Amino acid sequence: MESVGIDAIEIRPGKLRLDLAETFAPALDEAPEKYTEGLGLYASSFPDIHEDIVTMGANAAHRLMERKDLEPADIGRIDVATESAFDNSKPVSTYVAGCLEQVFAGDFHHANKGERKFACISGTQSLDDAYNWIKAGRSRGRAALVIATDTALYARGDAGEATQGAGAVAMLIDEEPAVVEMSQAQGYGSADETDFLKPNQQFPSVDGKRSVQVYLARMREALEDYEGVAGDTHPDDFRYIPFHTPFPGMVRKAALLGYRHVARGTDVEDGLAARIGRQPRRDDFDDEAAYEGAVREHMDALSGTDEYRDWFGRTIEPTLDVARHVGNWYTGSVHIARASALRRAREEGFDAAGERLLVGSYGSGAQAEIHAETVQEGWNEEIEALNLGDQLAARYDMSFAEYEQVHDAHNHAVETEIEGFTEPDGEFVFDGRGPMDERTYRFV
Ligand code: CAA
Repeated sequence: MESVGIDAIEIRPGKLRLDLAETFAPALDEAPEKYTEGLGLYASSFPDIHEDIVTMGANAAHRLMERKDLEPADIGRIDVATESAFDNSKPVSTYVAGCLEQVFAGDFHHANKGERKFACISGTQSLDDAYNWIKAGRSRGRAALVIATDTALYARGDAGEATQGAGAVAMLIDEEPAVVEMSQAQGYGSADETDFLKPNQQFPSVDGKRSVQVYLARMREALEDYEGVAGDTHPDDFRYIPFHTPFPGMVRKAALLGYRHVARGTDVEDGLAARIGRQPRRDDFDDEAAYEGAVREHMDALSGTDEYRDWFGRTIEPTLDVARHVGNWYTGSVHIARASALRRAREEGFDAAGERLLVGSYGSGAQAEIHAETVQEGWNEEIEALNLGDQLAARYDMSFAEYEQVHDAHNHAVETEIEGFTEPDGEFVFDGRGPMDERTYRFV
């Protein structure tokens, strides 16, 4: 069977921007460094009044289809991954298809549509579904459209408010892909957890500190499971490691644990042994507390070594460039991290073709998944075609008072009448509600 993976990517951020250090932190009487250094975030993206998960997803898909010269008949499957859905029955993909049918000749009547839910990991699960559908020989030569779209808003005053964001990533999954080929091998770490959930409510209930621990525990399980099928990993096996990035500080924690794991028993551990000692092994300790104390001490020392810092700068830092300026996009977050790394490769004139990525996805509730990808020859052209930098630069910068209005406007429980901050042009917009309370959209 041919190789299968991501053939094209489009990214659509919400058109508003909240500066966390300059605008949000002072309003909350907090130090800006909590954001820029602690969480690793400078700004969040927000949807304007006429934007929502459908418009952001449809606008990303529209540009992708135009750029790749596709028509609806070329698409056999549309899956939307989201944790911001507004309907328990009708999937967002039907709304997106309806939007696209307004501007393309033909229709998606013979495309299978669905909506995937498992917190932030459902974007990657939708890629999996598309990969399996193609590998099973059911695609009839057509490609799959996967759209990860979210408005990641928290209740006002929740600690998670610092990590908000909104945007969509549209990906075309096909045979002989231009951007990355996905590996058959994958690893899972999955357990019944209550770290972050939305039991029929718009804004999440979050146990923030616990969610960080659950992310790390499931990610470690997934890595061990991945190694069980793909073999042991080494720090130099992967050029970039895009992680689910709720905020870059989270990835900083995951990366250090990951490095310790993949360096164990390798020449890297041998090289570090004279300076920081070998990694503590459980069997060498009488009790758990002493072992954990030794691990913490070792991790502190490891994080300060040139080896770790160089590896982090090369392998992880490039994946965080975009997240720092847009916040958490839930289902889209790990897919932004991949694109971010490839954007950096392009900026640095690095030829990434043939390089391998290790992709670490995570969804609360909770599950982590790890798979590898191989960068394909067409990556550079695809990344060059992204207009993400222009879109980010064009965002409207909100004052704190405007942010409060925008948060209210997207809050399903609050009635507001405010004007948008940007002028829609050549895009799908939310147009109100129809007789069955369905949301309606038009292209302007
Ligand atoms: N200068 C430098 N650093 C500072 C600082 C300052 N003045 N003030 C604080 N910091 C640092 C803190 O030390 C901390 O870093 P470490 O964890 O490395 O010590 C960091 O900034 C954050 O500070 P706090 O822990 O005090 O922040 P908080 O209590 O307000 O909340 C949070 C942090 C719990 C992550 C919160 O933002 C939250 O609940 N977020 C939503 C949940 C989330 O994103 N969880 C991530 C895992 S779950 C997941 O990934 C799924 C998903 O997408 C939601």
